Amino acid sequence: MDFKRIISESIGGVVVSADEAYALIGVPAQSEMGDYCLPCFKLAKELKKPPQAIAAEIKEVIEKRRDYRPFTMSVAGGYLNFRFDRAFAASNVLPEILSGGETFAPGRSNGKTVCLDYSSINIAKPFHIGHLLTTAIGGSLYRIYKRLGYDVVGINHLGDWGTQFGKMIVAYLKWGDEKDVEKRGVHALVELYVRFHKEAEKEPKLDDEARAWFKKIEDGDAEALRLFEYFRSVTLKDVNKVYERLGIKFDSYNGESFYNDKLDGVVELLKEKGLLAESEGAKIVDLSAFDMPPCLILRSDGASLYATRDLAAAIYRKNTYGFDKNLYVVAYQQNLHFKQVFKVLELCGFTWAKDCVHVPFGMVSLEGGASLSTRSGNVVYLSDVLETAVLKAEKVIEEKNPALENKREVAEQVGVGAVLFMALSTSRIKDLVFSYDKALSFDGETAPYLQYTHARCRSVRDKCADVKLDGIDYSVLSDEASASVVLLLNRYEDVIKDAAEKYEPSILSKYLIDLAQSYNAFYVGHRIAGEEENVTKARLALSECVRKVLKDGLGLLLINAPDKM
Ligand code: ARG
Repeated sequence: MDFKRIISESIGGVVVSADEAYALIGVPAQSEMGDYCLPCFKLAKELKKPPQAIAAEIKEVIEKRRDYRPFTMSVAGGYLNFRFDRAFAASNVLPEILSGGETFAPGRSNGKTVCLDYSSINIAKPFHIGHLLTTAIGGSLYRIYKRLGYDVVGINHLGDWGTQFGKMIVAYLKWGDEKDVEKRGVHALVELYVRFHKEAEKEPKLDDEARAWFKKIEDGDAEALRLFEYFRSVTLKDVNKVYERLGIKFDSYNGESFYNDKLDGVVELLKEKGLLAESEGAKIVDLSAFDMPPCLILRSDGASLYATRDLAAAIYRKNTYGFDKNLYVVAYQQNLHFKQVFKVLELCGFTWAKDCVHVPFGMVSLEGGASLSTRSGNVVYLSDVLETAVLKAEKVIEEKNPALENKREVAEQVGVGAVLFMALSTSRIKDLVFSYDKALSFDGETAPYLQYTHARCRSVRDKCADVKLDGIDYSVLSDEASASVVLLLNRYEDVIKDAAEKYEPSILSKYLIDLAQSYNAFYVGHRIAGEEENVTKARLALSECVRKVLKDGLGLLLINAPDKM
């Protein structure tokens, strides 16, 4: 039930139109003020009246009407506040959630398509903690958009092109051991790469060999391609294990090399549009009119660049998927790159350039500090972070609930969930210092806290197994603790939309914490089992709704919620 709609329909036409009111209505910073509020400051400017006077006027006109309204109004400091009748709120919010499935299914198709470029790892390079945010944020947005009815195309734009693959081949042929690579996967490849750089310092000839091998890849030499494909499959096998653990899937692994045969087309197009200029032998698009450095298209030796491939990829995505939105979940270090690419698309005359959005995020480091350079070999692999978190979770569970049956499975859900939630609960753009202890705390703003609250709801349901949820007396839920849970439940759908609009899963994370805290406050003060039947029923209904929303909301954050923990 859309309470904002109820308010705006009711007050619309008095001073403001219903739609205008709807857009203005918000939630007061302090819940004592009311459940919703209409800030009158913007109207005050337009009407040249004090905001308090406007709030008072609306209130007075509405109150003179005799018709039923499910809310009362109050004026405070330029705001008109609304407080809903508690029984009305509960009777409108809970049935909808109760009648929904166990977790809410993906929404009915809205006929719109979102391309989502995320995780986008590099072949033969470590999948490290620096990739945590793109992977978690992208994976969560994937589910959120699906949930809202979009067709989502998840794309792993693999970094599978560049001179480093020449180096990899040289290193592999000289020092590589197939059995070792079979066994240790990317770790073995990365070591070879590190060794190449060490040895090339002493023996510059190696760089020439690497260049020659890269040329062979470009020319389609069979042996070169075989090795290149081999590195690709070894890397994908490794990263897929992590993706599986995180519950993430991609619809496309078309990476940089996929666009090899589409780059001439880009160059032709830029020429045709008169955008291609020459600078010191290189081909560029001059962007000085937009206060940006030039976008490099071809180096003086004719080699294409990262941007060239992204131009080809964007055009390919538009032609193939007909996207309504084309998102790139990539670190803020690449802000300029995407600004340039989108500007060049716009200059080409593609009106859809405006639908391309860079979704940037901050950097991740590990508490205690560890360097993230591939060359030095000093990296923290994401798989190790997950494993460490799971082992720590196992220990905590061992202490808290030694009798728990499927401990390893629950530890997996808690440990992996803790890492994901830490990544998804800080505002996207902030740098994140990852701490195992904070992530795994059972009473901070963490996944284990949410999972624990979910399990608590589950056990309440089990305790009341024979209670049927029909003929519920919603007036039981008129007290403030119950009402604040009800009102939060009612905001869930809006929160999902808001998170999608702002590309910000942390909006959902924060909401789930609010909901869990509010439920736990209710739980402490209100007995559920063993009360009068109508009381038990209504409170159990509330508890069940919280359980469902927690489970569904965690799912949108890629986090599983065990029944017991
Ligand atoms: N592989 C790149 C990196 O690790 C990210 C690619 C992002 N996607 C894109 N279409 N450029 O920095």
